[in-house]
Amino acid sequence: MVQNRFDLESYLKERSKKVEKVLKKYFPKEKDYGKRVISAGKYSVFAGGKRLRPILCLVGCEIVDGDWEKILLFAAGIECIHTYSLIHDDLPCMDDDDFRRGKPSCHKAFDEATAMLAGDGLQALAFQFFTHPDLVKNVNKTRLLKAIHVISKAVGFEGMVGGQMVDLLMEGKKGTARILKWIHLNKTVRLIEASILSGALLGGGNSQALKALSSYGKNLGFAFQIVDDLLDILGDEKKLGKKTYSDIKKQKLTYPALFGIEKTKKLAQKYTEKAISALKPFGERAQPLKAIAEFMLNRVY
Ligand code: IPE
Ligand code: IPE
Ligand code: MG
Ligand code: MG
Ligand code: MG
Repeated sequence: MVQNRFDLESYLKERSKKVEKVLKKYFPKEKDYGKRVISAGKYSVFAGGKRLRPILCLVGCEIVDGDWEKILLFAAGIECIHTYSLIHDDLPCMDDDDFRRGKPSCHKAFDEATAMLAGDGLQALAFQFFTHPDLVKNVNKTRLLKAIHVISKAVGFEGMVGGQMVDLLMEGKKGTARILKWIHLNKTVRLIEASILSGALLGGGNSQALKALSSYGKNLGFAFQIVDDLLDILGDEKKLGKKTYSDIKKQKLTYPALFGIEKTKKLAQKYTEKAISALKPFGERAQPLKAIAEFMLNRVY
């Protein structure tokens, strides 16, 4: 009988509720002439989502003994950036996907121009949150600047934007494992790694802790995107909240396309094991991060 098992489900639920409460409280009100684009941003942010990245930020803070409730605005900002990336990723000029988080994608519920602007607005809102007086008063300013720097680098030219560019450029082309790894590293891994690192920075983590968490975040990020690639083929649309076979239709360069399902599954497992072994210095405190890595490997959504 397994006793005293860490209850990840309640843990994730509790954390995402807190993030959502802050998002609701600080999200601009739908008023005046600009109402439409605010509604579109809100529509996508509150459509659901696992809230993995903001939760990682909070756990990063907690594991180095920081007060995670004090950095909720930072975590909420990370979710705004992530949601912006999904809205743009679904546009017809990118992946052309009509469903997201169990609902019509932003450009379907509204229109393309509105979706583009909603994404832009969410990206700016993130920085409004990162520099919000209600957050600034809670944290060390030098560490806050570092955390903002880490996130901005991860999502810009040398991160997510760069990765998304090459993801598109490789559609229909014969790629190599090296290019594919580069795409995953940039489009997905860097933000996941930065999420946990920024939390640990804000929580006062030392360089040894940051190094271990960076290794965890990187390996978790690779496993995460590999599983996302697998779910495009093996997933259930209802549970996933998005259409399957989208990568196949677009002839995307993915792990299953390059290596087949079985080898890809093994690879995801290998990255997950590496992520978990990076947690050694934290001992028992690493329980949530270990459980998150296992959950993300076996997820169906
Ligand atoms: C989807 O991210 C985009 C990828 C990087 C694979 P998530 O699977 O975290 O999406 P939500 O936030 O739960 O909707
Ligand atoms: C998306 O990767 C990565 C970003 C949004 C930065 P995918 O295109 O594989 O994500 P899904 O499958 O549409 O969620
Ligand atoms: Mg994409
Ligand atoms: Mg996509
Ligand atoms: Mg995908």
